[in-house]
Amino acid sequence: MKAITVEPRKPGTARLADVSEPNEHEGSVLVEAVAVGVCGTDIEIVDGKYGWAPPGKTHLVLGHESLGRVIDPGRSGSLQKGDLVVGIVRRPDPVPCPNCAVGEWDMCRNGQYTERGIKEIHGFMSERWRIEPEYVIKIDPGLGILGVLLEPTTVIAKALEQVVIIGRRSFWEPRTVLVTGAGPIGLLAALGARSVGLDVHVLDRMESGPKPDLVRALGATYHSGSVRELGFEPDAIVECTGVGQVIADSIQAVGSSGIVCLTGVGHGGVVTAAACADIAASAVLKNNAIVGSVNANKRHWYKAGQLLARADRRWLSGLITRTEKPVNFMQALERRPDDIKVVIQFAEI
Ligand code: BGC
Repeated sequence: MKAITVEPRKPGTARLADVSEPNEHEGSVLVEAVAVGVCGTDIEIVDGKYGWAPPGKTHLVLGHESLGRVIDPGRSGSLQKGDLVVGIVRRPDPVPCPNCAVGEWDMCRNGQYTERGIKEIHGFMSERWRIEPEYVIKIDPGLGILGVLLEPTTVIAKALEQVVIIGRRSFWEPRTVLVTGAGPIGLLAALGARSVGLDVHVLDRMESGPKPDLVRALGATYHSGSVRELGFEPDAIVECTGVGQVIADSIQAVGSSGIVCLTGVGHGGVVTAAACADIAASAVLKNNAIVGSVNANKRHWYKAGQLLARADRRWLSGLITRTEKPVNFMQALERRPDDIKVVIQFAEI
């Protein structure tokens, strides 16, 4: 069968390759790939900056934002042939650390977790894949291709949960939320925050294209300047750009007792020691909490499924701006100005 593979840490090695059928030890459920979303992490892996092949192997099958159709339900009990499913990305570490032991693999303490398509386990960009029954999420069949948005929604379900949990440290009634970055994660964060009635503001550098309308369609406000020009102090900020200046500005712009949740993964940038102390002083004097959030556990997969199932389908379909065939996977990995979520489609839905 065909799969999109890469030799991690070696740029220029991604290709559509012939690989053997998935092995039974990867799970008793056999799935036909329908679509796989592309995200910044995939681009980093293809650029040779991130990723790990399975132990003893040189290549990794890419892809962690899956959507597939069950061919063989294996030992799952509850699944049926034809069900639309998505695969959970992370597996607990083998020790296991206390967090992985209680199913909070997203909070793994020893870094020995594995992730499909990212860290030591093959991903979902292959014509067929296998999975363990306990890591399969069956989606609302009415979502169709939109089910490919479940994985990024889980990242947001966790991030918003973190904000709520941390908010309980004091009397805090958040009303305004700023989301920085109107990519898929930012727009899904706006969806999640709007779904609980918050006054949501989304800031992005794009002044035209589909993003402003998508934000307004949620009943949220779109901004295209810098965080410093906002003119109000948000109660919480969900940072989805990973850009140093936006992060620094967000920490200084958030209101007293507010929370900044960092979800973007960036690199580099220069922050002087003085600037660092100013940023910290601002957080100290306003009792701010700054939290990083990555990945998701089963509770977040459940919550994300609920959020997607209730969301407006037309709005969700506006997030998928480009669909490419596996043979054109390199085009799928390009970032174009109007792209939000690009999807590689393996089979008709
Ligand atoms: C994925 C997460 C993963 C993280 C770090 C993200 O793109 O959505 O599931 O934990 O990358 O590897």
